[in-house]
Amino acid sequence: MTDDANKMWGGRFDAGPDAIMDAINASIGFDQRLARHDIEGSLAHAAMLAATGIVTDSDAKAIREGLLTVLSEIDTGKFRFQAALEDIHMNIESRLHELIGAPAGRLHTARSRNDQVATDLRLWVRDQCDAAIAGIRALQRALVDQAEAGADWVMPGFTHLQAAQPVTWGHHMMAYVEMLERDAARLADARTRMNECPLGACALAGTSFPIDRDATARALGFDRPMANSLDAVADRDFALEFLAASAIVAMHLSRLAEEIVIWSSAQFRFVSLSDRFSTGSSIMPQKRNPDAAELVRAKTGRILGSAVGLFTVMKGLALAYSKDLQEDKEQVFDAADSLMLVLAAMEGMVRDMSADPDALNAAASSGFSTSTDLADWLVREAGLPFREAHHVTGRLVAMAEAENKDLQDLTLEQMTSVHDAITEEVRDVLGAGNSVRSRTSYGGTAPERVREQVALWQERLS
Ligand code: ARG
Repeated sequence: MTDDANKMWGGRFDAGPDAIMDAINASIGFDQRLARHDIEGSLAHAAMLAATGIVTDSDAKAIREGLLTVLSEIDTGKFRFQAALEDIHMNIESRLHELIGAPAGRLHTARSRNDQVATDLRLWVRDQCDAAIAGIRALQRALVDQAEAGADWVMPGFTHLQAAQPVTWGHHMMAYVEMLERDAARLADARTRMNECPLGACALAGTSFPIDRDATARALGFDRPMANSLDAVADRDFALEFLAASAIVAMHLSRLAEEIVIWSSAQFRFVSLSDRFSTGSSIMPQKRNPDAAELVRAKTGRILGSAVGLFTVMKGLALAYSKDLQEDKEQVFDAADSLMLVLAAMEGMVRDMSADPDALNAAASSGFSTSTDLADWLVREAGLPFREAHHVTGRLVAMAEAENKDLQDLTLEQMTSVHDAITEEVRDVLGAGNSVRSRTSYGGTAPERVREQVALWQERLS
């Protein structure tokens, strides 16, 4: 071994790596984010090695103290990360060696970087699941507050982005609360499944040392050790599940972002965004742009891209470890960073957004949005079959449209000329407010139903 060779594994090497080899091989540029979890894993491993008599108590004590020193050097920015040492695992071990000497060399007994990195990343992703769920809860609270304020504000409900039937603002906000609940459940579910410990799988086949895998699993808050050592070092399902669940969250936020972009346009004016979450134009003084919403929408591409990226890395890998797996980290880091950012930005936007009940109501009242209510009235009060009621209503809409009126502005004579069973009472269902108040079926848009849901969610989220 020459001085050039890697001091951690260079025993059989005469020369050091080419500079390009270092560049493609080193992960320290990004995996330093695993430092804290790497040290937690090493502390648990060292304690187990001592408890099982594999290393002496005094060596374990030196290792423990050394690792804590390394951690504080990293926390205070004093640690010097070196690309020549490839990755976070060897950077830490090398510094440990400088600090405590010979006992440092015993830490890697009955362990490999393969089970080490799998453990570190699981711990890291597990934390991100918790953080994402907390971010989702905060956003749900903001949406419930909006829903409470506007439980009976009438707005157009859309299909095909064409005004369809009136709904309430509160109902619309609560739709996102429901979606986000499924998102939180997916993350919690993934977290439960990932909570098994790879440590002790070693390179791929386990070890001949009498290790205690239950002890390390327990110390790191895992439910149990992983049952198959090959699977333990080769698996990245946990990262894929996190990315897939994140992509669904991002897609939901993107739909809301799209609505905010539409609603805040001068053509709609349903909502105005706060100064804190909009920007001006450097050339057009009248502009107030929903940049935060647009960027939330755009980050979906990035998060889904990370999921697709890692799926593609994984699809052809024979068991067990291949260096391809090193490419998992940047996908996960980037997606997690983006996810936390879009959750926080969306919470801020929703909290600050003010809807204009008059503009919502005016839009809800135009566009013949109560046509279905009229048809339903003809079924209920005049005994028409729904198909005939639909036809009669269609003729009334055509009549109103020809005269540039809304349905409620037609005279009784005009209406009875289309069907003689129509009476003045029909006007009760023609207003948008009446329409939403009548939709009291479970899950419907009536303000009383929305208030029930708001109360239920306030309770759940408190
Ligand atoms: N930096 C590596 C990774 O992220 C650690 C594992 C290295 N294992 C190996 N057999 N070279 O995957």
